Amino acid sequence: MKHDARNPLVAAIRQLLAGSVLTLPVLAFAAGPGGSFQPTQVSATPDRNAGLQAFAQIERVLLHARCLNCHVPDGPLQGDAKRVHFPPVQRGTDGKGVPPLQCATCHGTQNSPLAHAPPGLDTNGQPGWHMPPAKMKMSWLGLSGPALCKVFRDTRTNGGRSLAMLEEHMVTDHLVAWGWQPGPGRELPPLDKPAFDEQVRQWIRNGAPCDTREPLRTSAGPTRAAADEALLKNLRAIAGSGALTQTKGTSNGSQP
Ligand code: HEC
Ligand code: HEC
Repeated sequence: MKHDARNPLVAAIRQLLAGSVLTLPVLAFAAGPGGSFQPTQVSATPDRNAGLQAFAQIERVLLHARCLNCHVPDGPLQGDAKRVHFPPVQRGTDGKGVPPLQCATCHGTQNSPLAHAPPGLDTNGQPGWHMPPAKMKMSWLGLSGPALCKVFRDTRTNGGRSLAMLEEHMVTDHLVAWGWQPGPGRELPPLDKPAFDEQVRQWIRNGAPCDTREPLRTSAGPTRAAADEALLKNLRAIAGSGALTQTKGTSNGSQP
């Protein structure tokens, strides 16, 4: 999650801590990039084989250079041949590199028109090119089939994402979308983006299976917005109980 000022959850928490409990932005969740996203529900009659076949198609994309080059245990890889990044760079704790070779030193806000120049990405007007953080590397290197599927699906290895959040990430995330707009000299993933999104929906609709024996999922779980709302509700309850108002005297002099 991006902890910037535009994140409605972060903004709401700030407001809550500032003492304006009564004016909590209840509507903050109506908008946002994922606002129009509707998660796929798990079917009442899931078809395991159809789900496994869909994952096999998803896997072809995940293991393609456009995705795998960042989803590795150590430093990033480069190019269609997935060779070690030149110059050798390190992910750093936040995935944005270690000075003086931070990703943004070379990777700007847009792709270069030249082949073999660093690709770029715009995140709220800033260079957004980075890999997953050191504490959750989200690495798929060397994995395939059920092993890859489990790392991809398990909340302990996928950044805490429910099926609904995974789907939202794949359908709406701009790093994922970059894979289909990689600039000159880079191969596209083996499925086009609409076909990839459809395989993701098929997999979830059919219980998100990873192997032939495990129980199928019955629910897609909360969306990011719903999870944020639940967190905020808890914080509101804590604030309402007075546990946060101990700092009143120092943080909000205008209150009686
Ligand atoms: C420039 C590096 C980069 C590229 C290229 C990239 N990703 Fe990612 N990916 C990330 C980062 C960073 C995160 C963590 C985002 C977060 O949790 O906020 C991530 C997280 C994910 C996740 C959630 C983690 C998981 O294991 O389920 C999925 C799914 C994902 N990416 C799919 C893709 C796909 C599909 C592609 C190719 C089309 C791709 N990514 C290409 C950097 C990248
Ligand atoms: C000194 C400049 C420089 C720095 C710093 C740098 N890169 Fe790169 N990176 C490049 C260049 C140049 C390319 C393109 C190589 C090519 O296409 O042959 C590239 C390509 C890549 C690619 C491959 C894209 C693809 O699909 O082929 C990934 C992934 C990547 N960089 C990740 C990172 C990450 C993550 C960081 C920070 C930890 C980083 N880079 C820091 C210069 C840099």
